[in-house]
Amino acid sequence: MLKNETYIKVKGGKALKGNIKISGSKNSILALIPAMCLGDGVGVLTNAPLISDVEAMKGILGEIGIQLNCESNSVRIEGNIIYNELSKQYVSKIRASNLFLGVLLAKFGKAVVPLSGGDKIGNRPIDIHLYVFDKFGIKTKVVDGFVKCEATQFPYKGQNIFLRFPSVGATENAMLVASAADSETIIYNAAMEPEIVDLAILLNSMGTRISGAGTPVIRIKTSDSKLVRTSHEVIPDRLEAGTFLFMLAVTKGRGIIKNVIPEHVISVTSILADSGVDIKIEDSNIFIDATNCELSPIHVEALPFPGFPTDLQPIATVYSSHCIGMSIIKDTIHTERFNHLYELSRMGMVHTNIATNIIIEGIQNLAGASLEGTDIRMAVSLVMAALIAEGESKIYGLNHILRGYDNFVKKLMGLGAEVSVIDKDTIETIVQKKCI
Ligand code: EPU
Repeated sequence: MLKNETYIKVKGGKALKGNIKISGSKNSILALIPAMCLGDGVGVLTNAPLISDVEAMKGILGEIGIQLNCESNSVRIEGNIIYNELSKQYVSKIRASNLFLGVLLAKFGKAVVPLSGGDKIGNRPIDIHLYVFDKFGIKTKVVDGFVKCEATQFPYKGQNIFLRFPSVGATENAMLVASAADSETIIYNAAMEPEIVDLAILLNSMGTRISGAGTPVIRIKTSDSKLVRTSHEVIPDRLEAGTFLFMLAVTKGRGIIKNVIPEHVISVTSILADSGVDIKIEDSNIFIDATNCELSPIHVEALPFPGFPTDLQPIATVYSSHCIGMSIIKDTIHTERFNHLYELSRMGMVHTNIATNIIIEGIQNLAGASLEGTDIRMAVSLVMAALIAEGESKIYGLNHILRGYDNFVKKLMGLGAEVSVIDKDTIETIVQKKCI
């Protein structure tokens, strides 16, 4: 565990140059691991990111009787679920732990799971998840921070379910629960994120019959066969790719972002190209060159996929401070995700924040400062601001970054950034270990 006083020291003003290979997706693997729990036998997830959220998953699996082991960028899962209750110890660390409601319900028709944790980015209710369970005739109640669920009939019948909002987690939970129903389920207004498609591919390889993932209507047919774990390659992390694309662009750098599925980051590459950055796409490589660019302002609205991802909103905010003119950033997905603004003000960034809109007039000269990131994306956005600020910055909150970015500091160093981690022994131990 990192000490609180660990920070990233950043000397600003250097253009990032070089190539980086994007790791497997955090948000995908956090759904794929629970899904693996539905099967028997040995399962392997390759292209697994080396992040501490996987460590939290390992703790959760341990509590229900399943073993998870990391071996050089792959995760091996074996054993059978023997308990249907979880404690707060690991569940409280990550939001995706609420998917164990779906897993345990599909296995036992009964589940007790504490309310999940995760990033402090505002209120994150689970009413849509509970609505889904209710549709299957599963009774739910929250008692002292624990969600207690029990099916009135098990196995339950498949259902037609309309989600009032295409929630990623609720769509995933609906798919997990529906995999154990005794007739077809149709999810309308389903989330279309690439992580949903990745989950469907894994579940189908294990024996489910899911179609339509990646569209607003997902069908889950019944399957008589027992689910069997398989080997599956985790998709590349589109949010990590987007982060580094913005970083290379804002520092007026150039390089190649490798191992990307370009359609997954089209909202980012399109915004950067419109802003004047030279972007070329060849297969799974994105070539970016911002060396001679005057960046035009951006208009960004965070929306469900294929819209611009809310997770890159803080990063786009920092980018806009180096565009010439007025940029507008809007986030109606996480309507309270604006903590970065307070810290960025301490670097001298001037902005107007009205409801879910941020207005930034650039170009602004930021000055190095001591700042603290309190969630993954906010902490990374502060590092990005430090890269363009004059002088030296100290960015606290590395523990948040390591929840979701594999080898973040090493990758930045590889791009020539003047960054170092104070409390070096700790970080080196962390980046060298194959499973934290
Ligand atoms: N919402 C509800 N009720 C619900 C569920 C969601 O009102 O029952 C609201 C949320 O409060 C939020 C919006 O719907 O305002 C989107 O939530 P969603 O359920 O789609 O998000 P999630 O499944 O909790 C995942 C990612 C987040 C990412 C969101 C949106 C994982 C583990 N997390 O969360 O990722 O922001 O989708 O794309 O997959 C991150 O990686 O930094 C991160 C926070």
